[in-house]
Amino acid sequence: MTSYKDLGLVNTKEMFAKAVKGGYAIPAFNFNTMEQMQAIVQAAVETKSPVIMQVSKGARNYANGTILRYMAQGAVEYAKELGCAKPQIVLHLDHGDSFELCKDCIDNGFSSVMIDGSALPYEENIALTKKVVDYAHQHDVTVEAELGVLAGVEDEVASEVSHYTKPEEVIDFAKRSGCDSLAISIGTSHGAYKFKPEQCTRDPKTGKLVPPPLAFDVLHAIEEKLPGFPIVLHGSSSVPQDEVDTINKFGGKLPDAVGIPEEQLREASKSAVCKINIDSDSRLAMTAAIRKYMAENPGHFDPRQYLKPARENMKKMYIHKIVNVLGSNDKL
Ligand code: G3H
Ligand code: 13P
Ligand code: ZN
Repeated sequence: MTSYKDLGLVNTKEMFAKAVKGGYAIPAFNFNTMEQMQAIVQAAVETKSPVIMQVSKGARNYANGTILRYMAQGAVEYAKELGCAKPQIVLHLDHGDSFELCKDCIDNGFSSVMIDGSALPYEENIALTKKVVDYAHQHDVTVEAELGVLAGVEDEVASEVSHYTKPEEVIDFAKRSGCDSLAISIGTSHGAYKFKPEQCTRDPKTGKLVPPPLAFDVLHAIEEKLPGFPIVLHGSSSVPQDEVDTINKFGGKLPDAVGIPEEQLREASKSAVCKINIDSDSRLAMTAAIRKYMAENPGHFDPRQYLKPARENMKKMYIHKIVNVLGSNDKL
């Protein structure tokens, strides 16, 4: 058993309480590689922001769970080396899909886990979440649960049943599951294609897609039911069009990639939304920088040469999110 406390990590409890009170959101950035980890830490230290470093099941398969855990421990030490006396870094399991996976993470240095039972029937989601909570809380690890299905507005239109989180269920769910935070569905979705062109309008000047707004009415109804309870938004990449354009200019093919407009995330950050998940924007920033570098320097083959601008570009994006979108800067 390795406790996250011995690694210098923190859980989300105090961080979320401050964020909800202060009207800002904590960035939750996914990482799979050393360069992402370095860029996240540099951005968090430079902006004096708490940060959640999250690891998906896919990341564990790609990089190895043990290595990622040591990288998170390294992140704490690196933050100190960069001048942050008391880093506030959470190591979080993103989209845990079983009690066993959550337990394994808790036993191996994670300070927070998500148990994603959102695809299960309501009672089964509660039962699974409660089982994880009961174990996690014995070790002072915080638990994120999910209620509602992340899919996007298409399902709202096409389906008889709403996939948005039902505000009338959240009190019962939070109470009976004992979760510390709740991921909700209000129209965000994963990846770089969050909406189909037919769900959007087009900006006549740029030809770019303009997505439909998030369901703020659902968010506000949930806030009313659970005042001050930490709410989480998954699928919150904005899919920056300059990065998409760079990728497409240098040989990529991402037609009509579209994300969540940053003004809407800025608005959400001021509410009970206190954790915002961003992964795809980091992938885009990395890929855009590498594609550009490769195209401009065809004779180079040392990975450090192209990973350096990739890391710089991700860091720039992380700083932008922290300062201009989530407002978590100057909180340490
Ligand atoms: O929510 C999904 C995250 O973007 C992680 O994606 O499972 O491909 O690592 P992944
Ligand atoms: P994006 O694909 O929008 O970056 O969402 C990431 C996420 O929700 C990770 O859990
Ligand atoms: Zn997610």
